[in-house]
Amino acid sequence: MAPSNRTSIHGTWTGRWTFILAAAGSAVGLGNIWKFPYMVGEYGGGAFVLVYLICILLIGVPIMIAEILIGRRGRSSPANSMEYLAKEANTFPQWKALGVMGAIAGLLILSFYSVAAGWAISYVFEDFGGESANYYGEKFNLFLQDGSQLIFFHSLFIFITAFIVARGVIKGLEAWINRLMPILFVIVVLLCIYATQTGAFLEGVAYLFRPDFSKINATVVLAALGQAFFTLSLGMGAIMAYGAYMPAKQNIGSTALSVAFLDTTVAILAGIAIFPIVFANNLEPASGPGLVFVTLPWAFVNMPLGVIFGKLFFVLLSIAALSSAISLLEPGVAWLVESLKTNRFIASGILGLIAWTLGIFSALSFNILSDFTPLGDRNFFDSMDFLSNQVLLPLGGIFIAIFVGWVMKKNNVLEELELKDTLILRIWFFLLRFISPLMVAIVFCSAVFLGVVT
Ligand code: PHE
Repeated sequence: MAPSNRTSIHGTWTGRWTFILAAAGSAVGLGNIWKFPYMVGEYGGGAFVLVYLICILLIGVPIMIAEILIGRRGRSSPANSMEYLAKEANTFPQWKALGVMGAIAGLLILSFYSVAAGWAISYVFEDFGGESANYYGEKFNLFLQDGSQLIFFHSLFIFITAFIVARGVIKGLEAWINRLMPILFVIVVLLCIYATQTGAFLEGVAYLFRPDFSKINATVVLAALGQAFFTLSLGMGAIMAYGAYMPAKQNIGSTALSVAFLDTTVAILAGIAIFPIVFANNLEPASGPGLVFVTLPWAFVNMPLGVIFGKLFFVLLSIAALSSAISLLEPGVAWLVESLKTNRFIASGILGLIAWTLGIFSALSFNILSDFTPLGDRNFFDSMDFLSNQVLLPLGGIFIAIFVGWVMKKNNVLEELELKDTLILRIWFFLLRFISPLMVAIVFCSAVFLGVVT
């Protein structure tokens, strides 16, 4: 059996590693280094980490396989791949809406992601000469008050993202992700080594890995589930869009596992680096989105050659954010290009502008718009984050699982996976058909029921 041999109008990647690198480039980003640690701090340490790991394994990996499969078989933008596969399965063409929704979710995420990426860029200009860990806490708070600076870095980030997407993902990505990401990995490992010298290494590690089960409730589970989707770039078509460029010969299952493994390793290492610094300096683990920007600069102040490592770290973090942002914009741009027959520059310009405009509200939500709370008591930034990660991505994930698990013909699924009816396949299929949709639905309903989703 051979996978479908349709080709993409956008071309396919040539190297065997390119898909893994591009998918890993999408997955590894601010979600691992910025968001994961602060969510761990906010939602109770080890309890959150445990639920998160379970979600990655039982829900994330099966859905990632499903997304790659849809993309590669459809060989177009998520929306058009869905339409093609719906036709192939003789079912409603309205499944296309799933791809369109994903592209919209991507824009929502990009809008606030870009503001946080702007923070990372601004730290490239830091001199890492602060006198105390608290210094960076105050500095970050002052920075958040300065709307015009936030908007400046946000604009810069969106502009670069839209420009790269306009030039074409294949050309843009292949060249440099594979060179730069390993260096980021090395610096995170160095930070972990530094963490062993802080005097609170064990305390930090225990905080990450010793679950306090009393802390697990619907809010925590929904947050961990949302983070699993977010960190693996699932539920909105990013991985699907990249799947469209994946060579027909590559094995989807093992690829998905490698990407998930890599992504999880980076997140856990970031946690191991950050929490010892938090405890050694009596900082607050639940200090919210600023956590990384408060703890790591202090590590760089104290490290030999810290200024160089510090700047390099934030340059690489910005690039990691960029390679994720590209995949947030790509599904929408690919779809506009295919359906409106426009060129990539126009498509990417229009969608970049929409994300930029929304992002302005996020940038201002820390200062002049701090009283504007569209969802519950969340400011605009947190509302966008919550709506996209904890509502849209899991919902997208349910439908992707249902589509591949229940709607597509099993033969086509097997053909695309190049797998016979083996045990592994059966486990995957079972997880995809029953466990993922059910778990997501249960978490979701209980969160709605308990008023977490307001
Ligand atoms: N996975 C990326 C990160 O962790 C963010 C992302 C989410 C990218 C959804 C694409 C789609 O930073």
